[in-house]
Amino acid sequence: MSQVADTVQPATDQDLTGGFDSLDRETHVDRLPVEGRLPDWLHGALVRTAPAKWEVGSQTMNHWFDGFAMLHRFGIADGEVSYANRFLQTRAYRAAEEKGEIVYSEFATDPCRSLFGRAMSIFSPKLTDNANVNLVKLGERYISMTETPIAVEFDGDTLETAGVAYEAPGMLTTAHPHLDRASGGMLNYAAKLGPRNRYRFYVVPAGESKPRVIAQLPVSEPAYMHSFGLTERWIVFAEFPFVVNPISIPLSGRPYIENYRWKPELGTRITLVDRRTGEATGPFETDPYFCFHHANAYEENGSVVVDACTYGDAQIVEDLYLDRLRGGKPAARAELRRFRIEVGSGDVAHEQLAEGLELPRINYSRNNELPYRYVWGVDAKSGWLDRIVKADVESGSTIEWAEDGCSPGEPVFVAAPEEQSEDGGVLLSVVFDSSSGRSFLLVLDAADLSELARAEAPHGIPYGFHGQFVGN
Ligand SMILES: [Fe+2]
Repeated sequence: MSQVADTVQPATDQDLTGGFDSLDRETHVDRLPVEGRLPDWLHGALVRTAPAKWEVGSQTMNHWFDGFAMLHRFGIADGEVSYANRFLQTRAYRAAEEKGEIVYSEFATDPCRSLFGRAMSIFSPKLTDNANVNLVKLGERYISMTETPIAVEFDGDTLETAGVAYEAPGMLTTAHPHLDRASGGMLNYAAKLGPRNRYRFYVVPAGESKPRVIAQLPVSEPAYMHSFGLTERWIVFAEFPFVVNPISIPLSGRPYIENYRWKPELGTRITLVDRRTGEATGPFETDPYFCFHHANAYEENGSVVVDACTYGDAQIVEDLYLDRLRGGKPAARAELRRFRIEVGSGDVAHEQLAEGLELPRINYSRNNELPYRYVWGVDAKSGWLDRIVKADVESGSTIEWAEDGCSPGEPVFVAAPEEQSEDGGVLLSVVFDSSSGRSFLLVLDAADLSELARAEAPHGIPYGFHGQFVGN
């Protein structure tokens, strides 16, 4: 049974590992069976990218993040739901299909090339384009992305791969760009590696394919950067102390992420970059944390508030290796933590806002860069994602949705039309149901997490990361 309560008990005996099985089948279904009733106003599509296949020939990739990208589309119209899924036809995927082996280096998988080949792979454009982390709709274009510079455009209706959308100005980037409201474009981070390393911030204007660098900072050991914060004035750039000496990447013989080192003695260093001038203020130093996802950031009375899903260290990167996950080993649990930077004094205070929350979403178009109240995400009380959480960052209270044997993905908030309240709308989450081996699209009331409807997909959808709802 579905549960809505603030004290949902952890289920300790459920086996949720089926969500790490590879999915080879591409399909299209015009009408999924729907239980419940979808809101009349909900028209559009939830489009997601996710790793879906970890085996190539006799090889298996090492890490959850390594799997080949598959696009999934739940189309919603007139109370009905369609579903389609297709592999992203990246050069990494096509090369693997053609050769029957892994050809490109992924996050934690290296195809064991020669030393020369490794060197070329980091200092030349031979990087993977396996865009399995997140996607955006930029102007009229759907763009899927990962943390290497090549973003991949696809057709949002047919899921057909179109080609390279743009190339980020660096060897590493994030799959979590922000909307640049002034230009209608997107704002993102890149790391330029080489004899002199630089952090860069860049804008890709809507309708254009050439990134424009708006700020850059020198750095000797870049930190792993999965996302960043944005306020009306500042790019909020937190360096969590999981860092790399870039020269070690081609020389070490290790896959990309295994070159990073946890150095808690560095603390967390937060730099503010003026979006208009590109000038940097800081860094402001505080205790060491690790983080993939920022929830929101804003300015308030001379301070900058940054809310992020944090871990005490970078063990989570180890926890997400595929053999551990398929073996049912637990993954570390993120908390929602608030950092408050007093820009004048340089002091940084921090506090826990919610005990467990990852894959955060907010009412982005209304509240990003601004004071806000609600974050939705998922939590992993049982060792793997097993509930959807709504956190009230003003009161510190949380409510949850959970169901036995079910593992929900990122809950995407969709605002109801003409709705004034911050939580007026629905959440869309793709849930893996271990009892059936299938996944379903879950539609919750975003205010109280009560279930409105669910639509069962024809197969299990491997656990993924991020997606977007595009209305029509
Ligand atoms: Fe992410």
